[in-house]
Amino acid sequence: MKFYSVLFTLILSVTCDVNNLKKPTIAVTILIRNKAHTLPYFLSQFSRLNYPKNRISLWIRSDNNIDNSIDVLNTWLKKHNKEYHSIDLILDDKSEGFSDEKGIADWSNNRFSHVIKYREEALNYARRIWADYIFMLDADVFLTNVDTLNMLILKNHTVVSPLLKSDGMYSNFWAGMTNDYYYERTHKYKPILNREIQGCHEVPMIHSAVLIDLRKLDSDYLTYKPEKLSSYDGPTDDIITFALGANSSGVTLHVCNDEIYGFLPVPIEAHETLEVDVQQLINLKIDILGQQKALWLEDVMKKYVNYPDKDTLGMDKIFMINLERRPERRDRMINCFQELGIEVEITNAVDGKKLNESLLDNWNIKMMPEYADPYHKRPMKMGEIGCFLSHYIIWNKVIENNYEKVMVLEDDVRFEPYFRNKVNWIMKDEIERLKIPWDIIYLGRKRMQEQDEPFVDGSKYLVHAGYSYWTLGYILSKSGAEKLINAKPLDKLIPVDEYFPILFDRHPRTNWKNHFSNRNLIALSASPLLVYPTHYTGESGYISDTEESIIINNNQNIKYEL
Ligand SMILES: *[C@@H]1O[C@H](CO)[C@@H](O)[C@H](O)[C@H]1NC(C)=O
Ligand SMILES: *[C@@H]1O[C@H](CO)[C@@H](O)[C@H](O)[C@H]1NC(C)=O
Ligand SMILES: *[C@@H]1O[C@H](CO)[C@@H](O)[C@H](O)[C@H]1NC(C)=O
Repeated sequence: MKFYSVLFTLILSVTCDVNNLKKPTIAVTILIRNKAHTLPYFLSQFSRLNYPKNRISLWIRSDNNIDNSIDVLNTWLKKHNKEYHSIDLILDDKSEGFSDEKGIADWSNNRFSHVIKYREEALNYARRIWADYIFMLDADVFLTNVDTLNMLILKNHTVVSPLLKSDGMYSNFWAGMTNDYYYERTHKYKPILNREIQGCHEVPMIHSAVLIDLRKLDSDYLTYKPEKLSSYDGPTDDIITFALGANSSGVTLHVCNDEIYGFLPVPIEAHETLEVDVQQLINLKIDILGQQKALWLEDVMKKYVNYPDKDTLGMDKIFMINLERRPERRDRMINCFQELGIEVEITNAVDGKKLNESLLDNWNIKMMPEYADPYHKRPMKMGEIGCFLSHYIIWNKVIENNYEKVMVLEDDVRFEPYFRNKVNWIMKDEIERLKIPWDIIYLGRKRMQEQDEPFVDGSKYLVHAGYSYWTLGYILSKSGAEKLINAKPLDKLIPVDEYFPILFDRHPRTNWKNHFSNRNLIALSASPLLVYPTHYTGESGYISDTEESIIINNNQNIKYEL
């Protein structure tokens, strides 16, 4: 039976390709400069594209590097070069930047001219080899959608880009252009960026990943060279010349946001280091590393990728709670800690599956009689009890070891871009400097009510927490641990994320609250949050969520997975 259905699918998939045609040929052109820190992830993701590699010609140039970009590229090429139809490659490891450049993030005139020369060469190369398409791809674009090329081809536009999102408002298109041809934010920008209107949109500028259909007659006029345009009065800038040239020859540029295609980092500023990119795309990188077990990648990671030195972000300890039978989560988190440069003690969670009545008796645990999950009307599950105990054990450790402050993380979180800096900012520039009293600071949670959560006086990133669920990540002070333990929660047990709001007196249920007389826990929350559950996949999996989206996504199942 199975055999026949496989056979049937095979026949179907062959015959369904009605024209029985090969895929169009694509010249993919990639310029690489100082991308050693993102290149392993870029190349991994690029290799995963669902497009026949023997229909792809690669055109790659790399020069003026101060890092190991060329070595990383060569490691990948050694493994993959034979798969592609052809490779046109010039790697220059002698060049050392341009005389008019003020640092690696500076876009000087000479640098622009160099890139313009390359882009025009790439375009001419693709025309010369009669490629059907050219795909101009920047080496820090992460195409998470493996069908990107197929989908863009189906759009049937002369020039088209997939929408690439970033941390914050940055992306790879403009919705407006000033009179002197620079970026202009217009009211059209946000609806496209946030995919409120979906489809392919005519815009004045696209960049970073641009597919050009060279079979279309009007593509013949496209150029990156200002001299080729009859009356060019714009700046020396490859993407602006291209956009203005397209416009003057009647070619429209399109950005498509009908699907989630991929991501790109915000370009670094002149004063920043390359490591900034690394912090920006941490979740994406962790996912890519999780998916790819390729040898070349392991090689590259070992040899060329430097991780930051580890510390505990000013805490006495950072704990992660992990079930022993969840090694894949542990491994993922260990990768995160390495990328983030944080030193973490992994504690084994109390496994609900191993709990039974007699063990609960040993702990002297009694359930709160009134408790029934408000949604499912059921008593606490063993998993929830295990989760509570796992946190409880850590609170005790805080007291035993006389820790001033600790961070507690569960094992299914992803981190906001710049997590390190943001935690440091909150602790040093707000808590310490403003002398804010606190017992617990939520780093991740789910808000359960649309109630006002006023900002802490003088603070930009801390609010007074309202009724919230989840215990994904929080910072706990010694006084906080004492309050949590002294209230004797094991005598009237409820899930740990109901317990917190009771102790800080924002729980809506009076009959539950009445079991605890001291409800003076001072609970603050990072705003915006700094950790999110990994369960939010897709678009929001890689970059910031708003707290609002968490309220709307009312998925109860993900509450106690620990
Ligand atoms: C693609 O666009 C061209 C015009 O550029 C048009 O003639 C053609 O019919 C379109 N093909 C499809 C399949 O829509
Ligand atoms: C060229 O730019 C003008 C001004 O922004 C715009 O109105 C016009 O539609 C553009 N033409 C094309 C072909 O995109
Ligand atoms: C409960 O679990 C403990 C430890 O796994 C075991 O020794 C004990 O026999 C169990 N008790 C019951 C009643 O199943």
